[in-house]
Amino acid sequence: MTENLTTHSEDATVQAGKEFSRRLVSGAIVAFYGELGTGKTRFIKGVCQGLSVQEHVTSPTFTIVNEYRGADFPVYHFDFYRINALSEMQEIGFDEYLGGDGVCLIEWADRIAGLLPPERFDIHLQLGKNDYDREIIIEQRIEKNQ
Ligand SMILES: Nc1ncnc2c1ncn2[C@@H]1O[C@H](COP(=O)(O)OP(=O)(O)OP(=O)(O)O)[C@@H](O)[C@H]1O
Ligand SMILES: [Mg+2]
Repeated sequence: MTENLTTHSEDATVQAGKEFSRRLVSGAIVAFYGELGTGKTRFIKGVCQGLSVQEHVTSPTFTIVNEYRGADFPVYHFDFYRINALSEMQEIGFDEYLGGDGVCLIEWADRIAGLLPPERFDIHLQLGKNDYDREIIIEQRIEKNQ
């Protein structure tokens, strides 16, 4: 199932993330794709609001992963923009995050495409016609319980 939306402001992208968060269950994986400044972190900010995260949500550029506490499960926020080697993934124990109870939100998922499980959400963001427009495509890959 694929859903396309266009937002016209930063706040609308945060709101879209918040609405999307209702579809997430424990262990869900969400892969984000899109160039710099397309709104991945803003969308994730909204997802975190929807999951009742209290911590400040910002791209974990130097730490690779930020861990937040949601109301029902942990939320792991990854940014792989600067990943150099897949061996770094073993160092941070990426597999354990994927197999755990938390929700994984992954910026620059294309950098580690081969490590993603098939059952996940893919969210593509790109710039729209006007400065404050963003095109967002949400795709659910492999339905649960089928
Ligand atoms: N409709 C919109 N939705 C989201 N952000 C918008 C929108 N219009 C303008 N912006 C601006 O675009 C930028 C999006 O930044 P954000 O950090 O979310 O991008 P990102 O995709 O995470 O980038 P990076 O790859 O550097 O992590 C912000 O400066 C925000 O103010
Ligand atoms: Mg970001």
